[in-house]
Amino acid sequence: MTRITINDTEHEIEADEGMPLLWAIRDILGMTGTKYGCGIGMCGACTVLVDGVPTRSCSLPVEAVEGQSITTIEAIEEDAVGRRVVEAWVTNQVPQCGYCQSGQVMAATALLKDNAAPSDADIADAMSNLCRCGTYNAIAAAVRDAAQ
Ligand code: FES
Repeated sequence: MTRITINDTEHEIEADEGMPLLWAIRDILGMTGTKYGCGIGMCGACTVLVDGVPTRSCSLPVEAVEGQSITTIEAIEEDAVGRRVVEAWVTNQVPQCGYCQSGQVMAATALLKDNAAPSDADIADAMSNLCRCGTYNAIAAAVRDAAQ
């Protein structure tokens, strides 16, 4: 039995040792806002916050996050910064296919909670998740909007 705290709720789950956190979130808990992209920690589609740090959940064993606080896209608007990020995403019409965007929003929220007024270089550094539609300019514009 593994205990994990997601969006301020503790869950006891049956997970094989080494099961990636992403599997637990999606397949056991049924929270499908966090996406599976590459499965090898490269694309960032699976980004969640672990104690506020953006983390690729496809590459992290679920037992490694016992005792830590995980935030997923389902709860991001409960946070004032996360809500501003989502609003800026809508205003700037960032998504095209949309598949990577929950991970992008998580990364942007973590950035702005750590650095309320990021420079363009800070944004470029922090927003390393991939987007096959190439929405990078819109992502940067939305992050700048959410920072104001
Ligand atoms: Fe986790 Fe790509 S699915 S980084």
